[in-house]
Amino acid sequence: MDDTTRHVAGEAARRRTFAIISHPDAGKTTLTEKFLLYSGAVAEAGAVKARGARRRARSDWMEMEQERGISITSTVLQFSYRGHVLNLLDTPGHRDFSEDTYRVLAAADAAIMVLDVAKGIEEQTRRLFEVCRARDLPIVTFVNKYDRPGRDPLELLDEIEEQISLRPTPVTWPVGDPGDFRGVVDRRDGAFVRYTRTVGGLTEAPEELVEPSRAAAEEGRAWTQALETCALLDEVGATLDVPSFRSGATSPLFVGSALTNFGVRHVLDAVVDLSPPPSPRLDDAGAPRSLAAGFSGQVFKIQANMDPAHRDRVAFVRVCSGRFERGMTVVQGSTGRLFATKYATSVLAAERSTIDEAFPGDVVGLVNAGDLRIGDTLYDGGPVAYPRIASFSPELFASVRARSTSRYKQFRRGLDALDEEGVVQVLSDPDGDLTPVLGAVGQMQFEVAAHRLAHEFGAEVDLSPAPYRAVRRTDEATAKLLRTSPGSRVLVRRDGTLLALFESEHWLARLELDNPSWCLERSVV
Ligand code: G4P
Repeated sequence: MDDTTRHVAGEAARRRTFAIISHPDAGKTTLTEKFLLYSGAVAEAGAVKARGARRRARSDWMEMEQERGISITSTVLQFSYRGHVLNLLDTPGHRDFSEDTYRVLAAADAAIMVLDVAKGIEEQTRRLFEVCRARDLPIVTFVNKYDRPGRDPLELLDEIEEQISLRPTPVTWPVGDPGDFRGVVDRRDGAFVRYTRTVGGLTEAPEELVEPSRAAAEEGRAWTQALETCALLDEVGATLDVPSFRSGATSPLFVGSALTNFGVRHVLDAVVDLSPPPSPRLDDAGAPRSLAAGFSGQVFKIQANMDPAHRDRVAFVRVCSGRFERGMTVVQGSTGRLFATKYATSVLAAERSTIDEAFPGDVVGLVNAGDLRIGDTLYDGGPVAYPRIASFSPELFASVRARSTSRYKQFRRGLDALDEEGVVQVLSDPDGDLTPVLGAVGQMQFEVAAHRLAHEFGAEVDLSPAPYRAVRRTDEATAKLLRTSPGSRVLVRRDGTLLALFESEHWLARLELDNPSWCLERSVV
């Protein structure tokens, strides 16, 4: 092993790249803040939200975000903890943006699933979990808000297993009932960590390691009950198992309160100690690319106009192998063209700072990335192509029309940009028409698209719901037959895929039954 190889392997081994998934309000933002607090990246919690407010003040299209109080854009936070480099990929919590989340998760090596102890598995948790499962992502579970009255955590274990077929293996267990939370027992060594609250949870909660005999004397029933439950968990074998966690079958579970900081350190430690470092990524032929091979990375997200003063376009690239160095010229796999990486940035929340080098697991933001597309592979020294990042099957459709014909050029340019960014899918009639159909997973994607077409591209649009209820992938031969049958329409997606849209599920079922030889594939990704 030469020095460079050793260096890259060592840096990769220090990386942990992960995302937090949760239903809105379960505590993802709070936990993120507390990670920054415990890693020493911020001296006091609250910095993330404050930065968020500054960012919103700066950015015009994020007016919508401000009005709605939801997070539309994703950010990447990099911070160090215990000699490791942690890359936290933030995912939008709103269900309408799950397509965006899907792509972000394609760049993560693990995820933390945050549950509200009073609510358990909620709709968006399930949806996001399914994306993780499809990618075999290892998942750490954090049961949050234990400082408040909530459900019996044992009941939550059953719910997780029943509803999403993931076997939780508690690593920490609470001492005290929800609402009367004293601390956690680490089941690996039986250590009881008792916490003291700080004002507003702004600073770390002082911790005290309490011996079992003292715990029994001081905590009484809360302590004996915790021990009894831990014995029960031992009996049923609900115990941490790293291989099955890494394969996505079990989930190490932690209990705590992000607000008061109780149990937060254990979760951060789990990211370092349990979740996997970057591993050799498989190329589209299924062969692993060694971490120490020449630089390669994949674009997983494109974001336009992060800084309205510059009207720029940033491509977020996950480094998959080798060392990235700012200024290096890389090959864009899809076109074979060279791409100069003079303007590489790392992104801490929305604040940019120029980065000089990056290693597997890191995320690099390439500014002015005009030609880059989601899924593009970039490489240097030894070509490689990674499998494309699948897109969601659209569930909602709307026809879009430029209000003024004189703005048609701007309208088309805007649609192309939004399509490439993955804000919405633009479906066009192969015969050409003035009103393409937009496909989305959530209604709000349409609103963002319309807002951005008007404000960034100068093309006011009218959107009207399109009456389609089901979609199938099809081929030319079937498309020809469908064009003559009512209640359906065949459109083409940017990647060339032909999509057949149907106004009625019953009608589609009937067609499928009557024409078994037709190409109508459920999977449109
Ligand atoms: P999200 O990103 O998953 O949407 O959730 P976020 O962290 O914004 O938390 C949602 C609400 O839940 C916030 O309250 C937050 O303070 C609260 N919260 C988060 N973790 C805990 C916890 O461990 N215990 C308790 N009791 N509450 C928690 P908010 O009133 O909506 O906002 P804020 O005014 O506190 O910022």
